[in-house]
Amino acid sequence: MLASTPLEKKVVLITGASSGIGEATARHLAAAGHQVMAGARRTDRLAELAREVRGANGALDHCALDVTRRDSVESFVDAALDRYGRIDVLVNNAGVMPLAPMADLRVDEWDRMIDVNVRGTLYGIAAVLPRMREQGGGHIVNIASVAGHRVDPTAAVYCATKYAVRALSEGLRQESRDIRVTVISPGFTDSELLDRGGAVEAQAAARAAARQLAIPASAVAEAIGFALDQPATVDVNEIVVRPTVQG
Ligand SMILES: NC(=O)c1ccc[n+]([C@@H]2O[C@H](COP(=O)([O-])OP(=O)(O)OC[C@H]3O[C@@H](n4cnc5c(N)ncnc54)[C@H](OP(=O)(O)O)[C@@H]3O)[C@@H](O)[C@H]2O)c1
Repeated sequence: MLASTPLEKKVVLITGASSGIGEATARHLAAAGHQVMAGARRTDRLAELAREVRGANGALDHCALDVTRRDSVESFVDAALDRYGRIDVLVNNAGVMPLAPMADLRVDEWDRMIDVNVRGTLYGIAAVLPRMREQGGGHIVNIASVAGHRVDPTAAVYCATKYAVRALSEGLRQESRDIRVTVISPGFTDSELLDRGGAVEAQAAARAAARQLAIPASAVAEAIGFALDQPATVDVNEIVVRPTVQG
């Protein structure tokens, strides 16, 4: 059963939909009646998500996606066009956050964060922008972070990538008259973000904080749904969603 009827049924592409915020957003938007194309590298997770969503009469297709490869992002967008014939919304959500002091020189992880969080977001924009312009409209939702508003030790490079996401979103917004641009900046949110990479001590400290503070990923999904459901003339540019107790 669909939870509700959206104001307008949209074709929504979500990167990094195999866990956390992306997965919750896919579930939330499909339950609201939108047509979702979910992308990530863990296609077994996506297949399971598709089974569950379709079992509840939602529309969700999936496609293997590595946002660090421009050809993969283009194939993802082509798959959505083949399936649904248009693209209304791209949610640039895929991200990684291996935390460590800069002095550790974990340069491979710096590269990874830049590749996924910044290049991946740009590749997503490049893949949908011409199509949205042709259609005369569209909506790009970029997931930044509270870490795109403040810098903390062990998160310098991650913060730099999220400041970049906010900067490129603001530039795109200023240059666009037909495309809506929304930045969503979550605070501590329950997900798998802290499960990969980083320095042991830094990751453990962040995990301890997340255990105490984190809000469910569905809270971020609902903020994204709110931005999507506004009329085409209303561009919700920035939403910060964080735990009430987060400093
Ligand atoms: N959780 C938080 O506290 C928090 C706070 C602020 C901002 N954020 C942001 O929220 C976004 C979602 O993160 P999350 O917290 O939900 O973490 P998550 O559970 O780890 O989800 C990250 C998603 O990104 C995907 N991904 C990673 N590398 C990828 C690649 N090369 N190509 C395609 N997909 C890739 C992962 O899928 P595969 O591994 O299957 O490819 C996964 O689906 C990120 O941009 C993160 O920076 C999170």
